[in-house]
Amino acid sequence: MSSIMLSHVSYTYRGAQTAAVKGASCTFEPGLLYAVVGPSGSGKSTLLSMLAGLDLPTEGEVTFDGRNLNDLDLDRYRRESIAMIFQAFQLFPLLTVLENVCYPMELCGVKPADARERAKILLERVGITKDKHNRFPSNLSGGEQQRVAIARSLSAGAKTLLADEPTGNLDVANTEKIMEILQGLSHNDGCCVIVVTHDQEVSGIADVVFTMKDGALMVQQTDKN
Ligand SMILES: Nc1ncnc2c1ncn2[C@@H]1O[C@H](COP(=O)(O)OP(=O)(O)O)[C@@H](O)[C@H]1O
Ligand SMILES: [Mg+2]
Repeated sequence: MSSIMLSHVSYTYRGAQTAAVKGASCTFEPGLLYAVVGPSGSGKSTLLSMLAGLDLPTEGEVTFDGRNLNDLDLDRYRRESIAMIFQAFQLFPLLTVLENVCYPMELCGVKPADARERAKILLERVGITKDKHNRFPSNLSGGEQQRVAIARSLSAGAKTLLADEPTGNLDVANTEKIMEILQGLSHNDGCCVIVVTHDQEVSGIADVVFTMKDGALMVQQTDKN
């Protein structure tokens, strides 16, 4: 199982006067659910984008499984090691639910029949019943679309799940269900789940809460740590 470590990580966008992330140091371990909370513009998405290998730090280093991301094949890292979900779900609108979940596996060369079997298991895992597998995303509720997005993100076997405001478009009931699924993935399946949010309710369920303010990352003391 792999942990992600940040060591004195900063990121400054080209042409920007100040860094969006400033000297962040922390470790994200498998089996735990993390929340990163902070106001809009505090650097949360920038932090996730470095964890995902989409941006490399302008200072400091990010290591996955002890290896510096600078030295990894980042396309492969993103395809195989990292699962990502977003506020807007970002499902493919012209593919069915089942096809959405199969798609990343087919990119990785999994045989279509095997991909379909695994997709069905993943969809069941997130509570999407068979009668919905052949629907298009637009015929699902927001909560259901996010479940499909979770199943799709995990289809290539990644055990590190990065979620950027995953419940931002959901009502309270669906927010709770999605957070239960994310908690189950960390506690039962050993995934490392990192949720960026500005919702204090969402952070309440996390094992470890970090706060971000003006690019600085700090661990929040809770009764769990
Ligand atoms: N592509 C970009 N180019 C320049 N500045 C950016 C870019 N993306 C974000 N920023 C700036 O970086 C800071 C942090 O943004 P972001 O990481 O998106 O914060 P959050 O996700 O917490 O809202 C903000 O000041 C934002 O304006
Ligand atoms: Mg953001």
